[in-house]
Amino acid sequence: MAVIHVEAPGGAYDIVIEPGLLDHPPEAGPGDVVISNTTVAPLYAARFTPRKYTLATAPDGEAYKTLETVAALYGDLIDAGADRHSTVVALGGGVIGDTAGFVAATYMRGVRFVQVPTSLLAMVDSSVGGKVGVDLPQGKNLVGAFKQPERVWIDPQTLRTLPEVEWRNGMAEVLKHGLLADEALLDPALHTLDRAVDLVTRAVQVKVDVVQRDPYEKGERAHLNLGHTFAHAIEQVSGYAWAHGQAVGFGLLAAARLSHALGLCAAALVDRVEALLVAVDLPRRHDLDPAALWDAMRTDKKWRGGVSRFILLRGIGQPLIMEDIDRDTVIGILAEMT
Ligand SMILES: NC(=O)c1ccc[n+]([C@@H]2O[C@H](COP(=O)([O-])OP(=O)(O)OC[C@H]3O[C@@H](n4cnc5c(N)ncnc54)[C@H](O)[C@@H]3O)[C@@H](O)[C@H]2O)c1
Ligand SMILES: [Zn+2]
Repeated sequence: MAVIHVEAPGGAYDIVIEPGLLDHPPEAGPGDVVISNTTVAPLYAARFTPRKYTLATAPDGEAYKTLETVAALYGDLIDAGADRHSTVVALGGGVIGDTAGFVAATYMRGVRFVQVPTSLLAMVDSSVGGKVGVDLPQGKNLVGAFKQPERVWIDPQTLRTLPEVEWRNGMAEVLKHGLLADEALLDPALHTLDRAVDLVTRAVQVKVDVVQRDPYEKGERAHLNLGHTFAHAIEQVSGYAWAHGQAVGFGLLAAARLSHALGLCAAALVDRVEALLVAVDLPRRHDLDPAALWDAMRTDKKWRGGVSRFILLRGIGQPLIMEDIDRDTVIGILAEMT
């Protein structure tokens, strides 16, 4: 078992990582609700319902990370008798964590919130840091809030039912954390279900360290966007045919190649990232138009005034922010990766 303590502006909380943790959740208080989805609820909600939690179930998928789902969940909370003193428990992947977190941040001006992430991505990334929200038809994550949880419960045994493709998607963020701050995370021996406690604990620690130092993304937190400028463009131009994790995997390699092209890092780092992607079975090539990818990047929220902005690497554990890299250099890298 591991406990990671987090100091956040909205209050301190603990992240508990323990196999079998969900076998004995505490008894619910009045009006406490577990929010899950149609895939995860049949697998794990029965751990909670005998403990007097009311279950509210949303449809499964990013397509349902919407204000419509939020509105339906408010109704479920009213029906469950949830009041200002009740707790919302998010049981599922990042979509449920973000949606239920937004419900918890806004229902009756905010109620207590517990995260129970069940996907690898949600464990190492989305359940930590307090960002919650939903998508709009115009784009992803355009409405949201900062809502710190009271507690995060991670039971790595839930990963046993996670589809393989979702494991790989989460691994992309694990590799990102390894490249940013913890080389041990890049050891393939750790990349198995049997080592999930170590893997998740180390990967969570990287994100906790960054968000504690920069809770509102004024500076260093931007490092967590390593690979993501490329990834968001790939997702957008492919019409979301690429999963986020696949796009992040590719984006890590693109960021390493760009770093090398600018003379920031050795070629060995590019080779290392490439080998990791092969081992985890994440994509290293794309079949999209490099110019279209550049145009998509220009709409990036973080490119203020259209000036390009990338997170790059001098080496493992040495990220930096670089601005104003020109179009031809970036398009050149993307053209080499088709
Ligand atoms: N708030 C943040 O800081 C932050 C950070 C990164 C990503 N996100 C968000 O997270 C979302 C992606 O999260 P995700 O990758 O977990 O996707 P997801 O929530 O869609 O989960 C992936 C799939 O796995 C299923 N699943 C989850 N746990 C399972 C389990 N234990 N067994 C079987 N199936 C299981 C889900 O039902 C879903 O079908 C995106 O909406 C993204 O914007 C948020
Ligand atoms: Zn990501």
